[in-house]
Amino acid sequence: MYGDGRVTTGEEGSGRGRLVGRRVLLVVSGGIAAYKAAELVRRFRGEGAEVRVVATAGALRFVGAATFQALSGNRVRHDLWDEEAEAAMGHIELARWAEVVVAAPASAHLLARLAHGLADDLPTTLVLATEAPLLLVPAMNRVMWAHPATRANVALLRARGAVVLEPEEGEQACGESGPGRLPETPIVVGAVLSLLRPGSGKDALPAVLAGRRVVVTAGPTREPLDAVRYIGNRSSGRMGYAVARAARRAGAEVVLVSGPVALDSPAGVRAIRVETALEMREAALAAARGADLFVAVAAVADYRPARRETGKPAKDPKGALLALVPNPDVVAEVARLDPRPFVVGFAAETGDLEEHCRSKLERKGLDMIAGNLVGPDRGFDTEENALHVFWRGGEARLGPAPKDELARRLVALVARRLAGEEGS
Ligand code: PMT
Repeated sequence: MYGDGRVTTGEEGSGRGRLVGRRVLLVVSGGIAAYKAAELVRRFRGEGAEVRVVATAGALRFVGAATFQALSGNRVRHDLWDEEAEAAMGHIELARWAEVVVAAPASAHLLARLAHGLADDLPTTLVLATEAPLLLVPAMNRVMWAHPATRANVALLRARGAVVLEPEEGEQACGESGPGRLPETPIVVGAVLSLLRPGSGKDALPAVLAGRRVVVTAGPTREPLDAVRYIGNRSSGRMGYAVARAARRAGAEVVLVSGPVALDSPAGVRAIRVETALEMREAALAAARGADLFVAVAAVADYRPARRETGKPAKDPKGALLALVPNPDVVAEVARLDPRPFVVGFAAETGDLEEHCRSKLERKGLDMIAGNLVGPDRGFDTEENALHVFWRGGEARLGPAPKDELARRLVALVARRLAGEEGS
C-alpha cells in the first residue's frame, strides 16, 4: 500500500532436513535449562544433523550422560583426560570435526571462562581449538544476566565474532521473573541455520546480529500537493533494502519501513509500506521502541506542502507559489527515545562530507552516520555506492562497491560498535 499501513512478511523456507549432513557440536553447561538441551539434540537430529554432545561436570549433575547419548547416538564427552574417548576421537579432532559449536545453555560461568580464553576443561578447550562459528545461548538468573561482569563478557565475545542470543523473559526456575530463560528451540535452530547458510562463512557475513531487533527505513517519501501530484526525490530504496537484507542475513529480526519503491520486500523481513514523512515517522517510532538497532537510510522529505488541495486543481496561467512546512526529523526523534536503540543515520551530501556528517551526528544525537556523495549519477538510484562512516572517535571508508556488499560491511561494522558500546 502506500498509505494504508499494509504489513507483509517474506517467507523463509522451513521444514525438516535443513541440517542434513551438517556436524553440530553441542556444549551443555550446568544450569536447570540443561534439560532443554536434550530437546535441542532431538531437533538438530530431526533436521538431519550429526550431533556430538560435550557436557561440563555441572551439566551432568542436571541431566545424565545416558540421555544425551541416547538422543545423539554418540558417546557424550566430558573429560579432557578420558583416554578411551581421546583414542576414538581426540579433542582437537573433535574441534576440527564441528561445523558449528553451540553452547546451550551457556551459563554465566561458561561465558566468563570463554571470554577470558580459559581452557581448563574439555568444553572450553574445544571452543579455543575450533575454527567453527560459535553460537552461545545463555540461560541464567536475571540478576546474573544483568551483572556488569556478564554484560562485559558478552560484549567481548560478540566483538570477537561469537553469536550470543538474547535470553527470553519470563518466569525463572528460581521463582523470579525477567530475562534469563533459554530461547525457544526454533530460535536456536534458526540461528544455527543462519550460521551454516552458504555464503555465511568467515569471509561473508556471520550471524553477528542474531537475537537482535533491527529497524531500517528506506526509499523516498512522497508529500502530496493534491490528489495526483507530489514532492519526492530520486531514492530507489536499493541501499535501504540492501541494509535490511544484510541485517536479516546476520540473524536479526528486521522491520523495514519503506517509502514508495519498485522493489520486492526482502525474504524474512517484516515490511511496512508508507508514503509520507508523517506516516514514516509513525511507523518508525512504533517499530523502534524495544529495538536494538535503528538504521535510517530513507531520504525523508524535509518539507511538505502546507496544504493539500483536493482533486486536481487546474493550471493557473499566472503561476503558483508553494508554501512548505518542515517535516519532523524521524531519526532524531528515534534517537531521543528512552530507552533507545543504537541509531545509525545516513547523510546524502554534495560536498564537505565529513563536516556535514559530524555536524548531523551531533545535531540528531546519532551513534553513527554513513555519508555518501550524491549527484545525478551517484548515490541515488545507482547499483554501486561508497560510504564514509563516522562515529565519535572513529571513521571508516567502505567501497566503492555494489550496495549489497556495502550493506554487508556496514552491518559488520555496526555490530562491532554495538557490541563495544554494551561492553563499555
Ligand atoms: O535509495 P537509493 O537509490 O539506493 O539511494 C540511497 C541514498 C542515497 C538515499 C542513501 O544512501 C542515503 O544517503 N540516505 C539518506 C538520505 C537523506 O535524506 O540524507 P539527509 O542528509 O537529508 O538526512 C540525514 C538523516 O536524517 C538520514 O538518516 C535521514 O533518513 C534522516 N532524516 C532526514 C530528514 C527527516 N525529516 N527525517 C529523517 O529521519
